Amino acid sequence: MTTVTNETLANLSREERRFEPPAELAAAANVTADAYDHAAKDPAAFWGEQAERLTWAERWSTVLDDSNPPFYKWFTGGKLNASYNCVDRHVEAGLGDKVALHWVGEPVADTRDITYAQLKDEVSQAANALTALGVEAGDRVAIYMPMIPEAIVAMLACARIGAPHTVVFGGFSADALASRIDDCQAKVVITSDGGYRRGAPSALKPAVDEALTKTDVVHKVLVVRRTGQEVAWNDDVDVWWHDVVDTASTEHTPEAFDAEHPLYVMYTSGTTGKPKGILHTTGGYLVGTSYTHHAVFDLKPGSADEKGDVYWCTADIGWVTGHSYIVYGPLANGATQVLYEGTPDSPERGRWWEIIEQYGVTIFYTAPTAIRSFMKQGRAIPDQRDMSSVRILGSVGEPINPEAYVWYRQVIGGDRAPVVDTWWQTETGMIMISPLPGVTAGKPGSAMKALPGVSVDVVDDEGTPVPNGSGGYLVVTAPWPSMLRTLWGDDDRYRDTYWSRFKKQGYYFAGDGAKKDEDGDIWVLGRVDDVMNVSGHRLSTTEIESALVSHPKVAEAAVVGAKDEDTGQAVCAFVILREEAGDGGDDIVQELRQHVRKEIGPIATPRQILVVAELPKTRSGKIMRRLLRDVAENREVGDVTTLADGSVMDLISKGMSASSED
Ligand code: WTA
Repeated sequence: MTTVTNETLANLSREERRFEPPAELAAAANVTADAYDHAAKDPAAFWGEQAERLTWAERWSTVLDDSNPPFYKWFTGGKLNASYNCVDRHVEAGLGDKVALHWVGEPVADTRDITYAQLKDEVSQAANALTALGVEAGDRVAIYMPMIPEAIVAMLACARIGAPHTVVFGGFSADALASRIDDCQAKVVITSDGGYRRGAPSALKPAVDEALTKTDVVHKVLVVRRTGQEVAWNDDVDVWWHDVVDTASTEHTPEAFDAEHPLYVMYTSGTTGKPKGILHTTGGYLVGTSYTHHAVFDLKPGSADEKGDVYWCTADIGWVTGHSYIVYGPLANGATQVLYEGTPDSPERGRWWEIIEQYGVTIFYTAPTAIRSFMKQGRAIPDQRDMSSVRILGSVGEPINPEAYVWYRQVIGGDRAPVVDTWWQTETGMIMISPLPGVTAGKPGSAMKALPGVSVDVVDDEGTPVPNGSGGYLVVTAPWPSMLRTLWGDDDRYRDTYWSRFKKQGYYFAGDGAKKDEDGDIWVLGRVDDVMNVSGHRLSTTEIESALVSHPKVAEAAVVGAKDEDTGQAVCAFVILREEAGDGGDDIVQELRQHVRKEIGPIATPRQILVVAELPKTRSGKIMRRLLRDVAENREVGDVTTLADGSVMDLISKGMSASSED
């Protein structure tokens, strides 16, 4: 594990700018400054109050059961249905005609507005269809879909019948899909023929077909027709959505499940090659996502006759952000939101801004990597659109550099909308550190402080809090309602990964480095473990290394994340070829890049691959990634005294400069 060095701290630009919350927003804010003290007095009681936001079939008896750490339980004794909370109860409250989803397909004019009443009908139909396909409470269902309304319907239908879903990002390969299906033993897969990306149909079903040749746990594949492209069909397994869902009854009574009933498993990269299945359960997760969505985005959902906010989160439902801040948080809060299928530059580069103008989006949530790419294209493109409706801007996925923050605020937010830089993880389920838009005077680049009811700190190697002005490891010091409950089927790995680093103190170790500034505000610096963050997507170095080594020509591989102007970090790989492969051939680099794409998916494609004769290793045989990172980031190579063979780095550095001259 690398440590947070003084160098990273020094690299943090000295940022003096402050942005006060707009007076009007502050005056009407959902959450005001007193919430911090109120929550701190008795956090469990505070979360108990927040649980009143939901509709429970049976009230809980205990807010937090901490009798067996780190296996915490929340709202024990309580019963509820997540789908009922996200859909039915709004209809029952007279909001059935309110738009839940303004869906925008990538092909222009391919749009659908779906009201809460319609959503309730579709979710009920899908729940009935899944039951008819043999899915029962507790069974797992894999979802591999583009950003179409049926993806959300599928998730809510699973939740409705108590079948935990595992959504696999549509950009992942058949292999990645198969390993996830296999790990959680998913009985049914829900997919589509494809979706539209970059102006053309992009197929999905073939990857499911291929995945099914690698695992035999799947009984049925439910397929939405989206693009109309030809698909291979297996009558024993494949079922069209329009045959079984559209014809099913719209009547479905949701069953109330235990607050700790599993809601979903989301796979994410850890420090080993095997992705971890993060388990989230029902009650605490919904309380956490609903409250934080209300607090951080200041959502005013409106009423039957008064238009409220129009919220848009650009994440894909294949990531946790799509789960917490497209599906569960916003829908539990009765939001009206935009859901967009495609890429930001299709058919032209101003597509996102056109959508904001067209739907009058008021709250916009996206990732720094997207912001940086728009910055590069210049403000002339967004300036063509009227985005005066925007009142709050959110950022998530990686540290946002101050320049991108200020550009976002000025160009997209008209210099009035506050930026909320939200720090959280797949594991935390909900936003943990963020400004409150009506309270906080924001500092560009800082996530500021823990939300009410959340306790975090920055500690040194021993677990002792560092003083203001210093850096260390980011930890969460008390349980929170939407915390992961375990890793699917692996309690030991759960304990080891998150709760052993600062065992004495009982802290949750997030894997990020952070700094407390002179005011005690938090600046997240990025991962301190072997996890990379490429365009806000988590990838593990080991996972990519194993993909490379699975290629017949590769003997050994070392992967590092190097700084990248556009994507935050980029994948850089150093490989040693097998002797029998010779020099690998002219296309070796291309061949290996393709191989990684196929094994994991396009997001993991290395930016650079350097074929080397040796890797820098310590005498005990551990690869010194720190040195490789120096090379990949064009820095002078650091201390090599612990290397078994000190000359190795010279050769690699020379190879690197030769390869970048090509
Ligand atoms: C990083 C995404 C700095 C961090 C919700 C974390 C951030 C990892 C921020 C989790 C932020 C996320 N500032 N870094 N605002 N948000 N990260 O699980 O390294 O895909 O540990 O969850 O992204 O990524 P994950």
